[in-house]
Amino acid sequence: MNLSRRHSLKLIGTGAIALAASPYVALARSTEGLMKKIPSSGEKLPVIGMGTWRTFNVGSDTALRDARTEVLRSFFDHGGGMVDNSPMYGSAREVVGYALDKMGSIPETLFSAEKIWTPEDDATRTQTAESAEMWGVEVFDLMQIHNLVAWEPHLATLRRMKAEGKIRYIGITTSHGRRHREFERIMNSETLDFVQLTYNLTHREVEQRLLPAAADNGIAVIANRPYDGGDLIRRLKRTNAPLPDWASEIDCQTWADFLLKFIVSPPAVTCAIPATSRVEHMQENMGARLGRMPDEATRKKMIRYVENL
Ligand SMILES: NC(=O)c1ccc[n+]([C@@H]2O[C@H](COP(=O)([O-])OP(=O)(O)OC[C@H]3O[C@@H](n4cnc5c(N)ncnc54)[C@H](OP(=O)(O)O)[C@@H]3O)[C@@H](O)[C@H]2O)c1
Repeated sequence: MNLSRRHSLKLIGTGAIALAASPYVALARSTEGLMKKIPSSGEKLPVIGMGTWRTFNVGSDTALRDARTEVLRSFFDHGGGMVDNSPMYGSAREVVGYALDKMGSIPETLFSAEKIWTPEDDATRTQTAESAEMWGVEVFDLMQIHNLVAWEPHLATLRRMKAEGKIRYIGITTSHGRRHREFERIMNSETLDFVQLTYNLTHREVEQRLLPAAADNGIAVIANRPYDGGDLIRRLKRTNAPLPDWASEIDCQTWADFLLKFIVSPPAVTCAIPATSRVEHMQENMGARLGRMPDEATRKKMIRYVENL
């Protein structure tokens, strides 16, 4: 985490006081939220991060910006770490910057994940600087090349920036199953700290080649679209589908627990980044860090259960 001068260095405690307000306090007492190591460094990250696509693209409306500030505050109150953003997400970078500023102090657990998204080969540094200004940070923890756009020149510049201490980690992203063959080739031929890809209970193509490639090459994995853009969890909630009896054996109290624990339990996956505009959904999502996680046999049962609903 790196802060600009406009943010105070006073840090928010993310421990007992924050958790006392959580509906998951009983579980939180019995077990720590799950953290996973970034293979290239050993640094640990909470397994539930957050996305900002659409949900934080609220423009300059102060009431909406303040509402998103509460979502971000709740994320950190419940032990959140990674916040993912991109120049592609409209006003989301400025809104995250507004929210961090409004919070008055930056949580020490913030892991800032931005993206380069421009076909201009020589714009890597200027776009990073523009994003840093919007967030109010000096150095991003992670800079990812969004959807492989102009990936070769951006990667070369990002390597230099990492060596200069201007970013801490480098990654590439894809989603919706796009360009997996090329993605895999890059994972096997370039040194990367992170990849970001789509993985959820109904879209599991990455299990075949990309997750094994990440494990083999020591690359951290960020799972985007964990709720399939929201369709999956909304369908399960709308139909009042019950959780199976055995969900309690893996400490699942909600569909958010069920869907997110499925994603973050395999060793190759480092974290999932659900996006939300609502505090109550953030509280639900962060609950998935806590308690027991499914093993492989249970994960197979989870797939069968949802497929048969
Ligand atoms: N190529 C790329 O690099 C790429 C591509 C896609 C996504 N991403 C990243 O991944 C993040 C996540 O993906 P996503 O935003 O597409 O989809 P998602 O996280 O799968 O779903 C987001 C939707 O789920 C709803 N939701 C969240 N928590 C909920 C809960 N507990 N109960 C009910 N509904 C809930 C949200 O609505 P509410 O606001 O009502 O909660 C929102 O509409 C993005 O925001 C972005 O940061 C990256």
